[in-house]
Amino acid sequence: MKNLMLPLTFAACSFLAAPGEAADVAAGKVLAEESCADCHGDEGAGDDDYPAIAGLSVEKFTKAMQEYQDGTRTKSAKMTKEAKKLSAAQIADAAAYYATLK
Ligand code: HEC
Repeated sequence: MKNLMLPLTFAACSFLAAPGEAADVAAGKVLAEESCADCHGDEGAGDDDYPAIAGLSVEKFTKAMQEYQDGTRTKSAKMTKEAKKLSAAQIADAAAYYATLK
């Protein structure tokens, strides 16, 4: 078993650290605290007026942000404005950060 687990662990790590695709959780946290926490609360907990975004999967989070950017989601002009400020890399970082929260 040991012999099998070691290469598997390495394979998993190199997959997560794939160059160009690695999202930066620490950068996502900084962005979240500066730009998102005012509405979505500390650690994305949300409240009566704003949805909780902590613990969203990277896929759901990224899709939502893309939909605000491309105008598919129009429910909140404020949120559309926030999304349009972000690059794809910033969205990936924020997605990775919020996915680590519960
Ligand atoms: C001015 C207040 C405001 C700020 C700042 C803000 N949001 Fe939002 N956000 C909203 C509102 C309101 C909604 C709900 C809109 C809707 O129903 O489509 C929302 C919805 C979302 C959703 C969709 C949640 C879901 O379950 O569908 C995501 C993801 C999100 N925000 C991420 C962010 C991120 C990331 C930031 C920081 C870059 C941010 N928001 C900053 C107000 C804000």
